[in-house]
Amino acid sequence: MKQGKRVGIVGAGNVGATVAYSLAMLGSCHEIILRDNKLDVARGKALDMSQAASAVRSHTVVKVAETMEDMVDCNVVVVTAGSPRLPGMSRDDLLMINANITKEVIQGIAKYSPDAIIIMVSNPLDAMVHVALKESGFDRSRVLGMAGILDSSRMAAFIQEKLGYGGGQIRASVMGGHGDDMVPLPRYSTVAGVPLTDLLTESEIVEIVDRTRHGGAEIVAHLKTGSAYYAPAKSTAIMVEAILKDTKQIHPCAVYLEGEYGYNDVVSGVPVMIGANGAEKIIEVTLNEAEQSMFKNSCASVQELIDTLHKNNFFDGEK
Ligand code: 2OP
Repeated sequence: MKQGKRVGIVGAGNVGATVAYSLAMLGSCHEIILRDNKLDVARGKALDMSQAASAVRSHTVVKVAETMEDMVDCNVVVVTAGSPRLPGMSRDDLLMINANITKEVIQGIAKYSPDAIIIMVSNPLDAMVHVALKESGFDRSRVLGMAGILDSSRMAAFIQEKLGYGGGQIRASVMGGHGDDMVPLPRYSTVAGVPLTDLLTESEIVEIVDRTRHGGAEIVAHLKTGSAYYAPAKSTAIMVEAILKDTKQIHPCAVYLEGEYGYNDVVSGVPVMIGANGAEKIIEVTLNEAEQSMFKNSCASVQELIDTLHKNNFFDGEK
């Protein structure tokens, strides 16, 4: 029988396991269910994390789903399953591989946790949110993608590094898709309420914007065998908590647009109010001409991926 809140996590690799660990340490839910094809790895990590939860007197228990059938009645399901991004590989290279994995996973979630809110993490992120939405048949408010919190956190860290002060007081803002043409917004970034544009020169800001756009690749280049996971996992845990606690906080997330910002039928990163019902409200920020044009480019890149999926008859059941 289900007790309290249950969070499912598909994919117990670095990102999935670190999301589970963050949630277990916070005691965010009663149960976390890990699902991974490497069952023994999932079993080992689940035991280890339940024991860590005991160490911090958290009531959260981490379990394993032997198959998707065990992932029943989850309030939230996080999907990290997929091939990771390797050095030299763009997020887009992952498209067909991860679309097929996502399709199968989402069909399982729709069947066994039909009331869940889905948080997609697999790349290419915006396209995977689109696939998850179409395959689940869920309302768009229940299918979100994690990227904006991550990209904004990276930008905030780079601002802190450049300034040498302001840690913990920086609010950076990034919109658009989770790709190289994401849209960092210095005009909407502040340090203790002071606009970034008052603190740094234009060329310093350009440097930060560029580094933010390539923040994922910078880490891949160091790690060599995989991609970032601490910040992606923490960003995901923030979204899960906002849903479980119904915080109504605003975070940048990837959602399906239906007229917002003038776009239809495309997924992009925008500020979203998150609560118990998922993406409860999409906030429309005023963008100037240059920002609008960057947002347009970013949406066009996501659209290209969706067009590629259509050309490959992905949505017709053909692969
Ligand atoms: C990142 O930005 C790979 O998308 C992942 O770290």
